[in-house]
Amino acid sequence: MTTFAHKPFALVTGGARRIGRTICLKLSRMGYGIAIHYQNSRQAAEDLKEEIRQEGGEAGTFSCNLLDQAQIRQLIPMVTEHYPGLCLLVNNASVFRKDTLAEADLTHYEDHHRIHGLAPFLLSQDFARHCREGQIINLLDTHVNDNETNHFTYLLSKKNLLALTEMSAVALAPAIRVNGIAPGLILPPEEESDGYLQRLAKDIPLQRKGRLENIEQTVGFLLENDYLTGQVIFNDGGEHLL
Ligand SMILES: NC(=O)c1ccc[n+]([C@@H]2O[C@H](COP(=O)([O-])OP(=O)(O)OC[C@H]3O[C@@H](n4cnc5c(N)ncnc54)[C@H](OP(=O)(O)O)[C@@H]3O)[C@@H](O)[C@H]2O)c1
Repeated sequence: MTTFAHKPFALVTGGARRIGRTICLKLSRMGYGIAIHYQNSRQAAEDLKEEIRQEGGEAGTFSCNLLDQAQIRQLIPMVTEHYPGLCLLVNNASVFRKDTLAEADLTHYEDHHRIHGLAPFLLSQDFARHCREGQIINLLDTHVNDNETNHFTYLLSKKNLLALTEMSAVALAPAIRVNGIAPGLILPPEEESDGYLQRLAKDIPLQRKGRLENIEQTVGFLLENDYLTGQVIFNDGGEHLL
């Protein structure tokens, strides 16, 4: 088995589709081999693996339900067995459910906190145990510093991920840099059309929705600027200022 001992590798959770897919392609073009994590999107993950290989990169696919603590614990060992050069973890996987404090049920609370809290925590812990040096990028949300209450348990869990980003930046320094990207209006939820974002965009400072390329640019910047840790880049046309 080829182990790619000298190639740097990145693990991107929820990497098969949407923003995760864009990040995988960007990282591959930056020279990383890619461990594409997926849960349900097996075919999309396999297609992406082939696309990366056809471009001359290296990629493998790894399935794991991030709601399951035992499966999470197996993910980094599974990846490093194939790719010992793992040196970048992107905590991108997400669930996005609407609720209010009054209506939120425990399932929503637990799912959001498991995906955005417990999974990134356990993966960061395992990553730090494995990697002598490296980087972690956590995908947050433009609202992490405000108190938007219509996605109550989602935002609460993303605030937890912000805290994890900042605390682990201190705890894992100097070997590992930890930064966050807080997207705004980049891709609509799957049940909504692009027009949904266009309408919302009228009310933010730059009055337009963002592009996947904007996330790519931020990933590149965070990786290349080696004096950044504990930073959050708001990729949101100024929405966090409102
Ligand atoms: N879209 C935006 O404009 C926007 C705005 C603000 C913040 N963000 C943040 O940016 C990141 C990417 O956004 P996105 O819209 O591309 O994300 P997304 O489509 O909502 O979710 C990404 C992936 O997460 C994976 N996932 C969900 N539940 C899982 C589970 N139990 N186990 C394992 N994987 C699971 C899914 O993988 P499978 O398909 O393989 O099941 C899914 O494709 C997220 O963290 C999101 O919160 C995005």
